[in-house]
Amino acid sequence: MILLNGKELARKIQGEVAKEVELLKQASITPGLAVILIGNDSASMVYVKKKAEACKEVGIYSVVHEMPENIKEEAILNTIKLMNENSNINGILVQLPLPKHINQTKILETIDPKKDVDGFHPFNMGRLVLGLNGFVPCTPLGVMKMFEEYKIELQGKDVCVIGASNIVGKPMAALLLNENATVDICHIYTKNLKEHTKRADIVIVGVGKAGLITEDMIKEGAIVVDIGINRLDNGKLVGDVDFEKVSKKCSYITPVPGGVGPMTIAMLMSNTIKATKL
Ligand code: GUN
Repeated sequence: MILLNGKELARKIQGEVAKEVELLKQASITPGLAVILIGNDSASMVYVKKKAEACKEVGIYSVVHEMPENIKEEAILNTIKLMNENSNINGILVQLPLPKHINQTKILETIDPKKDVDGFHPFNMGRLVLGLNGFVPCTPLGVMKMFEEYKIELQGKDVCVIGASNIVGKPMAALLLNENATVDICHIYTKNLKEHTKRADIVIVGVGKAGLITEDMIKEGAIVVDIGINRLDNGKLVGDVDFEKVSKKCSYITPVPGGVGPMTIAMLMSNTIKATKL
């Protein structure tokens, strides 16, 4: 079994991003990222902190707009519009999830697609599905980078994606399909999950359910990518896969932590550079 070391690859990519930032700065351009954080969801606060720290590390200017849980939708829209117009800001990201009274679609559609470093705007989602260049959501993009780094061939492979969210599962499936994989998308209403996972060459799971994927669900020698992040009662951070048992059966596996998580941040840095160059 080989560990897909996201932490190490993310460090390498961020080193490359830092060099690109240096070159841009020599041309008097400092990449800028605006992050909007609404409410006090503890996981979102941790993620935003990590994103800001990564910006600092690679030399990207970042600003975090923190807004209270009861903020009016219009105030968020106005902040986004200001960031759209601000030439010091190249990338805009609204941390999800949003409070229930906020229309997420409206918020995401207000971000200028050229500054949409999360790739959540319908314009970029559409381009992704069509296999055209655009911004790709950071988590699935990070998974693809790992496949590339470890020379994992996707063409003709049977891939089972578990989780069909707009920010992970759907873009993940589109990326895999664009690489000619045969993609099976499973979700909460899937009748017999094991039937799907058992035949897959690659299983990619991100639903936020600790212990969902057990060894009996995985084919011998399969590749397992765990996007889940769950905090157990004892404080331990785990993914959706029973790592200890499943890792004995597969050829490659991502650890949690240190797998996909750091790659998401690295891809955000890389997307911000891409936006700056546009
Ligand atoms: N919430 C969970 N993952 C993400 C992400 O990649 N981007 C944003 N903006 N919010 C998230």
